[in-house]
Amino acid sequence: MNRRMFLGAAGALALDLGMRGAASAAPALTPGPARVLGEASLADALQNRRSSREYDARPLPPEVLSGLLWAAWGVNRTDGRRTAPSAINRQEISIYVATAEGVFLYDAPGHALQDVRAEDLRAATGKQPYAASAPVNLVYVADLDRAAGHSDEERLLFAGMDTGFISQNVYLFCAAMGLATVVRAYFDPAALAAALGLGPRQRPMLAQCVGYPKG
Ligand SMILES: Cc1cc2nc3c(=O)[nH]c(=O)nc-3n(C[C@H](O)[C@H](O)[C@H](O)COP(=O)(O)O)c2cc1C
Repeated sequence: MNRRMFLGAAGALALDLGMRGAASAAPALTPGPARVLGEASLADALQNRRSSREYDARPLPPEVLSGLLWAAWGVNRTDGRRTAPSAINRQEISIYVATAEGVFLYDAPGHALQDVRAEDLRAATGKQPYAASAPVNLVYVADLDRAAGHSDEERLLFAGMDTGFISQNVYLFCAAMGLATVVRAYFDPAALAAALGLGPRQRPMLAQCVGYPKG
């Protein structure tokens, strides 16, 4: 299966998952990760990368959300490896997606979103007021039992590094797409873990707002 066929199959699966079960609030992701990237060059994206803290209320269209998640941490090879590296390929980071409609978990192999909570929990992702109104808040969660390292200190270090690569992918995607974003560590980790229903070995590492710039 070549890359195009793989991505097509992933997209078909995503649509199938998105339509299954009328109760699901999870937005259906579309295939075609690179297709929405437009004409921006890597040089343009690097030039335009920045943190922004003012967001328009407009939600992200499904194809943009789809491209965002794929760029962040999608599967880009047939062996299941991702757009960001991870120490010993442990892939210990999960992305939770908090929107006005609810919280969803990014299933990268299926390129789909799974329901987590049918509540608007954006305010729980950060202590700064703009987090509650940014249309998308990504939360990067590490599973310490999967992370590389011999101690929890090492595992947290590697998980933090792995999270940084994902966050930078999001920064560059946003810069290429004219979206606003900021990565954030200023949240209450225990309250956020409880809101997301995380297990004792799961840690929220960083959150990241994404949306259209206010203007
Ligand atoms: C690990 C980390 C945590 C951060 N946490 C926050 C945060 O909680 N709130 C915030 O507004 N910005 C946060 N930032 C964004 C930085 O303030 C920002 O990157 C810095 O001011 C440089 O601006 P620039 O990204 O536009 O270059 C964080 C950045 C990093 C790398």
